[in-house]
Amino acid sequence: MNNVQNSPIGVFDSGVGGLTVLRELYQQLPQESIIYFADTARLPYGNRSESEILRFVREILVWMNQQNVKMVIMACNTSSALALETVRSEFNFPILGVILPGARAAVQQGQRIGVISTPATAKSGAYRQAIQEINPDAQVWQIGCPEFVPLIEQNRIYDPYTKQVALQYVSPLLARNIDTLIYGCTHYRHLAPIFREILPSTVNLIDPASFVVQAAEKELKLMGLYRNYTAQATRFYVSGCPKTFPKVSQQWLGYCPVVESVSLPKIMRSSWAREETEILE
Ligand code: DGL
Repeated sequence: MNNVQNSPIGVFDSGVGGLTVLRELYQQLPQESIIYFADTARLPYGNRSESEILRFVREILVWMNQQNVKMVIMACNTSSALALETVRSEFNFPILGVILPGARAAVQQGQRIGVISTPATAKSGAYRQAIQEINPDAQVWQIGCPEFVPLIEQNRIYDPYTKQVALQYVSPLLARNIDTLIYGCTHYRHLAPIFREILPSTVNLIDPASFVVQAAEKELKLMGLYRNYTAQATRFYVSGCPKTFPKVSQQWLGYCPVVESVSLPKIMRSSWAREETEILE
């Protein structure tokens, strides 16, 4: 096996959302070694501008390159929607996003598709574009859900308030008789217990995390980068406080991760802004 096959796959998100992709990697590609980066100092990404996201993504990819990754999975819909196309050609390793794999999976399930996502992903229209390129007859409704990421990062999954907020976000989609709902933000899969309660059983739930890992496996095999040996332990890095991340993520990982902090340039803190719920036709 050559050195590049041995190299880790880089996975990043603003916070704990990308753990939904990491879990899929553990299940589908258990032999691969992973470096996970959470940009917790600049979270949430979902109400940032396109130029900010582009800058953050470039900084993360430069750092990933220094870690000698063989591939990067953007375990973040906001980055995939706003920056993937621009940065893909700027680096020498393959970079995968979650939107196309999610859109492909959704069109196989239904024609009336709802997308819950960050406001930035909803505004970008990236899911509608990807879905309608595959099936121009599919109808797509996108909802920006600014409150979810802060609630998840604060570990308020089972807080009754979170369920109330979820009901508010999905009601306009249910009123349009969606047959399929995409988790258009990697954090939202952590709310699965709530969605199972509030959605009719007829609505198909699509988690792009599972499908981006399928795409990664294909790409690794195609490029001769697939690793056959046992994985090394996942290395976790955060840009914010290294104590908070392990506390929240333990429930999804089944172990307490050892986390190191890394400082990327020009880290700015953001406020968790609330925005109006807006349905984008
Ligand atoms: N989990 C990310 C996404 O899929 C980022 C969410 C955020 O930080 O707002 O968009």
